[in-house]
Amino acid sequence: MTIDNAINLAYIVAFALFIYGLMGLTGPKTAVRGNKIAAAGMAIAVVATLVSIRDTGNWFLIAAGIAVGVLLGIPPAKYTKMTAMPQLVALFNGVGGGTVALIAWAEFNGSHGFRGEPVYVVAGSLFGAIVGSVSFWGSLIAFGKLQESIPGRPIGIGRLQQPLNIALLIASVALAICIGISDGGSSYLMLAILCFAAALGLMVVLPIGGADMPVVISLLNALTGLSAAAAGLALNNTAMIVAGMIVGASGSILTNLMAKAMNRSILAIVAGGFGGTVTASAISEHGPVKATSAADAAIQMAYANQVIVVPGYGMAVAQAQHAVKDMASLLESKGVPVVYAIHPVAGRMPGHMNVLLAEAEVSYDALKEMDDINGEFARTDVTLVIGANDVTNPAARNDPSSPIHGMPILNVDQSRSVIVLKRSMNSGFAGVENPLFFAPQTSMLFGDAKKSVGAVIEELKAL
Ligand code: TAP
Repeated sequence: MTIDNAINLAYIVAFALFIYGLMGLTGPKTAVRGNKIAAAGMAIAVVATLVSIRDTGNWFLIAAGIAVGVLLGIPPAKYTKMTAMPQLVALFNGVGGGTVALIAWAEFNGSHGFRGEPVYVVAGSLFGAIVGSVSFWGSLIAFGKLQESIPGRPIGIGRLQQPLNIALLIASVALAICIGISDGGSSYLMLAILCFAAALGLMVVLPIGGADMPVVISLLNALTGLSAAAAGLALNNTAMIVAGMIVGASGSILTNLMAKAMNRSILAIVAGGFGGTVTASAISEHGPVKATSAADAAIQMAYANQVIVVPGYGMAVAQAQHAVKDMASLLESKGVPVVYAIHPVAGRMPGHMNVLLAEAEVSYDALKEMDDINGEFARTDVTLVIGANDVTNPAARNDPSSPIHGMPILNVDQSRSVIVLKRSMNSGFAGVENPLFFAPQTSMLFGDAKKSVGAVIEELKAL
């Protein structure tokens, strides 16, 4: 077997491992193994690529790049808290897009403005430059919003926003065409493309409000995949083409699913402006809230026909999932059935609640998807909301003036009694007031969710 055949064989093995690994990500039980399998595939692809450039590669630069990547990549991946994973994913995704833009820049310089390069190299590089740059800068803004270093509310320039975004897109594409048709394009033009695309990335993501962030992140992820595939075309690297297409395709499917879950079209999201801030008048309008105690919550649940637990981001912050499982077991031992209502965008990443509850060994059968559980709330004595807010907000259903109007929610407000566990009256990710907290059937158990559930457990044991 020649060395080239061995490299191609290694690539095929790597692709098979990517796809097999991806299949593992369809369930929490197989996800960790799936991740390891895909990582092994990536390691094989990297080694095969290094062998393929054995005579031409600058080994000092390659070693320096790997060292910098390892030093910068491992600590955050190892030490970032689970609740901060979404912003880490946004950042890593952005770095992928930025890399593709830099590859395009290097290809451009290495060939003196694509002089004499075949069309597919020129087109792949220019596509990668635009989409990679949009993805890098857009992901930085998504990171900032999730990290709360930039306000989550829409930040934009009003009616001029869309014409400006369209102008930036047209300018980037027009300059790319100029470079593409000239033999040896100017480096100023190439720099201008990267800058216009950067401005486009910033301008598209800044006006998008908190509640739409899940869709934006998966959209940026899909864009990074597509730009990587284009760069693979330019570099004639099969592994990059295949891996990029897998990320692009799976990212696009996820984007569609998330947009559907939010009852929004992708175009409407990119046009911006979903999710606002709470106004002072909105707070006073709803009147006082009713506080309750762990003892009262325990009594209500112990005598309920059924308890529906609605987990949200606060459960993840408090790491309350094990305590919640213990509380549910206690209730079940007293003959009270407990089920969990899972909203598709509860928490901060797709499947966030499923992963946490699976970690606490909650049975999969007890997890009910939104469409399956929504009819149950009206027949349920007690709904226990644990650190969830936006996904229970009836304004999304009832109030056309609400910034989150139209987003499907869990029908918690139809339950006979609602107990909400959170620390204060602060709003959730979308920054909007939740009238559920002021409803007559709702009482608030203030405090950290893990501590509150612990207190309820003690009271249940004493009953
Ligand atoms: P949120 O609406 O963000 O509300 C979470 C609530 O948890 C907050 O109101 C907070 O109130 C409470 N909380 C925080 N720490 C707590 C703790 N230690 N103990 C008890 N409560 C605590 O969460 P949600 O209902 O899960 O909705 C998710 C939101 O995130 C949606 O707007 C969604 O669009 C967005 N989002 C989702 C994703 C994905 S893919 N799932 C990605 C990005 C954004 P206090 O501060 O008063 O305690």
